[in-house]
Amino acid sequence: MDYEEPLFFRVMRYAEAADRDVVDMVSGNPDWEPPAALRDGLREFADFDADEFQYGPSAGLTELRGEIAERRNVDPSQIVVTNGAGEANYLAMARALERDAGDGVLLTDPVYPYYPGKAQMLGGDVTLVPVAEGGEIDVEAMREAATEETALIVANTPNNPTGVVYSRETMEALVSLAEEVDALLVADEVYDHFDYTGEFESALTIDSENRIVTSAFSKSMAITGFRVGYAIFPESLVDAAKTRHMLVNVAGSNPAQYAVLQALRETEPEYYEETRSMLSDRIAAFTDALDEAGADYTRPEGAFYVLARFDGFPGTMANVERLIDEAGVAGMPGEAFGPARADWIRFALVTPRAQEAAKRLADYF
Ligand SMILES: Cc1ncc(COP(=O)(O)O)c(C=O)c1O
Repeated sequence: MDYEEPLFFRVMRYAEAADRDVVDMVSGNPDWEPPAALRDGLREFADFDADEFQYGPSAGLTELRGEIAERRNVDPSQIVVTNGAGEANYLAMARALERDAGDGVLLTDPVYPYYPGKAQMLGGDVTLVPVAEGGEIDVEAMREAATEETALIVANTPNNPTGVVYSRETMEALVSLAEEVDALLVADEVYDHFDYTGEFESALTIDSENRIVTSAFSKSMAITGFRVGYAIFPESLVDAAKTRHMLVNVAGSNPAQYAVLQALRETEPEYYEETRSMLSDRIAAFTDALDEAGADYTRPEGAFYVLARFDGFPGTMANVERLIDEAGVAGMPGEAFGPARADWIRFALVTPRAQEAAKRLADYF
């Protein structure tokens, strides 16, 4: 496969090169502080004996796996600590496609673009299934698209880019579908701490040999550069994933895992509540200004992205470049997420200037 620079890097580079002030709403990089205990843990690690700087256990620091297991109510043996949710998804998807259960992959449209990329790299045959009007996953359409060849279904909730939080019934129906066609359902819950409905429930509460849950601390602790995530597998699937993780990585990074461990232990729920509340305020301010701009938009139930549609201004790369140059706001072209939302532009609310950005959009349109 040729190396292709991720589109969001290209958009960010274009925005940086613009000869005007641009509000960057492109990437999913949090702009808020990580938990204080994370910084403390990192400092503490610097003074450890040098033997702590050597290879750690391949599947993750034992204490970190224990801490995750306790919180997620699973056995530590089911957990592989990974290089972010990105590797967790890769391990889970590889597991699904190496089982001799077919090579069909069902993804939603719009889709987080790394899923089709990974699926294709792993030899999967991708079918994109459009979501319903409001962004809710269309379980019936998924069912119709499923065949005996289907080996993998990926569902991301809370969802990037739609902001929808899938209901428990939806997730149960997807797990049942996976069981019926002998596929694996991968539930990517990397935005699990960003649920504004109070109704998000992890797919871990649905007991099945056919579901894998992936997550990470990248967003919840505002550390996308630390690269600490995890996958939780049924016992029957975990060994092959540990082997793949070991042969690719040997092990993860000790200092990053240690800092996350300290942050997990020391951080009060208020940290996450304050982040949610800050983001809710941003969403309200941004969408109010979009109302003034006369735009259609999705009000996120979770995660921190808003899809907006401006009349006669489809979400192409060319239009995104125009918005950067002419309005001073950078978003992601909707076409990057598949044809279903090609008319839309995704704005990541990871800047304190979200309201200002929306005002600029209102003025521009
Ligand atoms: C849906 C989804 N899954 C996975 C990731 C990657 O997470 P990580 O940085 O932990 O690898 C992202 C990052 O934006 C995401 O939006």
